[in-house]
Amino acid sequence: MSIKVTNVHKTYRQAGNILHVLKGVSFEIAEGEILGLVGPSGAGKSTLLHILGGLDKPTQGEVEFFGQNMYALSDERRAKLRNEQIGFVFQFYHLLPELTALENVILPALVKNNSRKTGAIELDGVKLLEQVGLGGRVTHRPSQLSGGEQQRVAIARALMNGPKVVLCDEPTGNLDSASGAMVMDILLGLNARAKQTVVIVTHDEKIARRVGRVINIRDGGIER
Ligand SMILES: Nc1ncnc2c1ncn2[C@@H]1O[C@H](COP(=O)(O)OP(=O)(O)OP(=O)(O)O)[C@@H](O)[C@H]1O
Ligand SMILES: [Mg+2]
Repeated sequence: MSIKVTNVHKTYRQAGNILHVLKGVSFEIAEGEILGLVGPSGAGKSTLLHILGGLDKPTQGEVEFFGQNMYALSDERRAKLRNEQIGFVFQFYHLLPELTALENVILPALVKNNSRKTGAIELDGVKLLEQVGLGGRVTHRPSQLSGGEQQRVAIARALMNGPKVVLCDEPTGNLDSASGAMVMDILLGLNARAKQTVVIVTHDEKIARRVGRVINIRDGGIER
């Protein structure tokens, strides 16, 4: 088991209104599984993905990450777990514009408090860029890269610390179909090679057809 979600609720309070977005969601994700999360806009897919990844506290319920109750950890320990064991990929890449591709990729390793030499970290970063087909773009800045290339940099960054789980929110939502297919090939390849668990939020039917299992979020719950 990689992630176990038990009776998760999420409510937002906004201008005196209470919005009950997730209403008691429970499911499990097996280790090495590739899972799709689909559902209408506003259904709570991003909210759920953030909760799975330790970015956003549920109002009620539990999330176990490899047996560890994530939200029982202090904020600091949860941040460390995120940095070391979870990779995130977002629709709009979230690369830092003033850094090169390589500098973006190695950032999580620099944040991680360890004694590795920068030279060794950079070598790993270059290898990851090569793996996503960007060996020739190491010193490019995000503004000098195409959308698909930026997303591949973001994937390399997500993999930098060798995460057990990679969480992707509409990773191909901003890409043409060829670049989107390439991003999917990389994500599925990860899963095939390193047995990483991959969760992909998507609107795209073509992507939903390529994952192992799909969970449909609707009206705050899972449509079975
Ligand atoms: N920080 C917040 N404060 C108040 N309401 C929020 C907040 N974040 C999300 N919401 C609301 O919660 C609902 C679910 O949002 P969420 O982003 O999870 O949807 P989604 O399924 O990812 O939608 P989309 O497919 O459009 O990305 C939406 O109605 C949204 O307006
Ligand atoms: Mg969303």
